[in-house]
Parts: sequence; structure tokens; C-alpha cells
Amino acid sequence: MTAKVLTVAQQKGGAGKTSLVAQLAATWTAAGKRVAVVDIDPQGSLAQWFAAREQYATQDDTLHLSAVGGWRLTNELARLKNLHDIIIIDSPPHAETESKLAVRAADLVLVPVQPSPMDVWATGGTVKLAQGERRPVLVVMNRVPPRANIVEAIRDLLDRQGLPVAETTLGNRVAFAASMMEGKGVVESHHLSPAADEIRALAAELEKRLSV
Ligand SMILES: Nc1ncnc2c1ncn2[C@@H]1O[C@H](COP(=O)(O)OP(=O)(O)OP(=O)(O)O)[C@@H](O)[C@H]1O
Ligand SMILES: [Mg+2]
Repeated sequence: MTAKVLTVAQQKGGAGKTSLVAQLAATWTAAGKRVAVVDIDPQGSLAQWFAAREQYATQDDTLHLSAVGGWRLTNELARLKNLHDIIIIDSPPHAETESKLAVRAADLVLVPVQPSPMDVWATGGTVKLAQGERRPVLVVMNRVPPRANIVEAIRDLLDRQGLPVAETTLGNRVAFAASMMEGKGVVESHHLSPAADEIRALAAELEKRLSV
């Protein structure tokens, strides 16, 4: 069995890439899957989350982190693939060589978008990159406010661009950020919260698409 690779990419800064990688990784790890996360962003936010995790974690935590850049990514992925079920890559907020390699390696490119037209417009570069590499894209709406009519309008806008959108949306929830302070995901720190329900639903949706 070789791992499926999920690359989280979005040129727009602050869309929720690192949060999504960490939350999905914690969710799948808690469900007993062998998960590796790869931080190719020089900002190193995911690696910082992982360092906090190591400080607080129980000894049986199986989540693995690789922080690699540039030409080393391809070799590192080949090595990780034999040891894991899922590899999730966190990429930087631009579409340069490293993001290109991460997109090329992906079975699915997950693109977080906040529900505003500016955020949808800013997604074009990332989508072009994925299409250029012939990789499938799935948009996930993040930080969605409650009772937002704009969500359907944004769905339509993405639809008209031929972009598939995940059924699950993630709300704008403090628990997502709070859990990460301790290197955790909401499934670990806020097990019964709406945030945990949302990320579990998204994980289940992605499992179907990735067949993992
Ligand atoms: N669903 C959410 N609810 C509440 N806060 C969120 C949510 N998603 C992300 N955030 C917050 O938004 C900010 C940006 O998130 P994050 O760092 O994950 O984005 P990013 O796309 O990785 O940013 P960058 O482009 O700088 O790498 C963080 O403060 C994070 O805690
Ligand atoms: Mg980030």
C-alpha cells in the first residue's frame, strides 16, 4: 500500500492552509490512520504546531512530520509513501517551484477559500497550477459565518468556473485556533464541538474521494 497525497494549496495568504493540514492530520491520526505531514513553507507554521504537539503529546502519537524544501521533496515523498496511509502537504502562499512540485505529487489538491469574491478571484493562480499539472482540485469553504447567504453565491461562482466544492464547509470557530496552541486538533481538544463535527465530516468526504 502506498500513501495517498493530499496537497493543501492556495496562493492567497491566511486562507487556512496550515489549519486544514493540522486539523485533518489530527483527525486521521485519531482514527488510527498512519499519517505524515510535510511542511514545505519556509514560514514553518506547521512545524511549530508539530513542535508544540511533541511537547504535549502522549507517547503513542504516530503522526510524523517532515520539513523539507526544494528538490528534496520528491525523494522524501517516495520514502514516506511506503510507511503511511495519507501524506498531507502544507504549501506556502505563492505558486513557485516548491508548490509546483507539491501539486504535481498530489492525488488531490485541496484549496481553502474564505467566502468572499476577493478570495475566489485570488484562487485562479492555484487552480491554473493544478490544471497545468493535471491534478484534481477540490475547493473547501473555510471560516464560513453562520446563516451566510453569501455561501450559496460563492458556490455558484465556483460552479461557473467548473470548480468542484466540498459539501462540507468549516465555520469560523475559535476552537480551530485554540486547539493548535497545544499542537492538537479539535478532535483531540474539543471532541464534542461543532468544529470537531465539521472536520470529521470533511475527513470522511475526502476519504471517499481519495479511497483511503
Ligand atoms: N475555520 C477557522 N475558524 C477560525 N479561525 C481560523 C479558521 N481557519 C483559519 N483560521 C485562522 O486564520 C489564520 C490563518 O490561518 P492559517 O495560518 O491556517 O492560514 P494559511 O493559509 O496557512 O496562511 P499562510 O498563507 O500565511 O500560510 C490563523 O489565525 C488561523 O487560526
Ligand atoms: Mg500556512
